[in-house]
Amino acid sequence: MKPNRDFLQKLGVRYPLIQAPMGGGCSTPAMAVAVCEAGGLGTLAAAYLSPEDILQATAEIRRGTGRAFGVNLFAPLPVPPRPTDTLAALEALQPVHAELGLPPPQLPQQPMYSFDEQLAACLEGGPAVFSFTFGLLPASAADAIKARGCFLIGTATTVNEAIALHDSGVDAVVAQGAEAGAHRGTFAVSFAEGLIGTMALVPQVVDAVPIPVIASGGIMDGRGVVAALALGASAVQMGTAFLTTDEAMIPAAYKEALLTTAEDRTRITTAFSGRAARGIVNHFMEQAESSPNAILPYPWQNALTRPMRTAAAKAGRAEYLSLWAGQGVRLARRTDATALVQRVMAEAKTIAARLSM
Ligand SMILES: Cc1cc2nc3c(=O)[nH]c(=O)nc-3n(C[C@H](O)[C@H](O)[C@H](O)COP(=O)(O)O)c2cc1C
Repeated sequence: MKPNRDFLQKLGVRYPLIQAPMGGGCSTPAMAVAVCEAGGLGTLAAAYLSPEDILQATAEIRRGTGRAFGVNLFAPLPVPPRPTDTLAALEALQPVHAELGLPPPQLPQQPMYSFDEQLAACLEGGPAVFSFTFGLLPASAADAIKARGCFLIGTATTVNEAIALHDSGVDAVVAQGAEAGAHRGTFAVSFAEGLIGTMALVPQVVDAVPIPVIASGGIMDGRGVVAALALGASAVQMGTAFLTTDEAMIPAAYKEALLTTAEDRTRITTAFSGRAARGIVNHFMEQAESSPNAILPYPWQNALTRPMRTAAAKAGRAEYLSLWAGQGVRLARRTDATALVQRVMAEAKTIAARLSM
């Protein structure tokens, strides 16, 4: 099985392994540095960072490695008007806030940073690769990214989304299967329709678009890498597997949940952010889903639940954390990011050699 050398060269990496950008501090500059130095592509998740924090984080990566790295943002979706009927959502959070010693919940005025300012900071940060999810980029943004010489990667959960991304001018596409941890990249169909398993999605996307395809969702070890390459992918993007590395800045309670849960304990929920995302089932997820109107649209719900998640992280309360995880979670290993890349690639080589009979 021969890797797509041309693609790896364009990405500036040795191995066909991309560390998924994981927002909310899950992936860190230290993780990106370790992955780049180990031969993969480390990525900064910039969507929840202020422009100043993006500049700081990219500078930290550049200080740690001279190798190519990626940055990632969410495509700028129209933000729905600030909801006025917030009673049920606030009532669902009120007892949790009281329990965690927080003031009563309040909906912020602004749910997120300006995309244009984040993009400017990302490009200033000197990445070799720019990836995005949740939709298509405005042409002006894509042009600005390409003008900087960045390799541009979009995220698809269906064949039609991959075609739309290709038509918009991306250089490669992440095919995100239903197994994937955290938010769905779906943008052209309903979230339910966009739940295609990685095994089915990757070869159909490979057949549909003449650009490299990066398989994502449920890939945790060398077996997953070889399987993805066999399906025609040019690389893999792994998220959940990196959550249990030393470099992941997630609360100990979250790491513990990842290392003790099973493949049948994750599901897609909108409880934490208002947008479909896969995580380990916990108390808040079940409580919010059970009361009608208790979940505001994205990104308002995300902004509303942020204080709860931050306080729960400090208090080690897993029942109030968004425990994002993919279906491969039982294969998560406690290790560091360098060792993970080395081990996954060593496993992949052994398996590929065994298969090439
Ligand atoms: C905690 C977490 C946060 C994520 N945040 C982002 C993000 O900010 N941007 C993005 O493009 N993908 C994000 N993803 C999705 C990954 O890019 C990828 O599709 C997914 O992790 C693959 O599935 P796996 O978790 O089974 O490896 C995130 C995934 C996880 C687990």
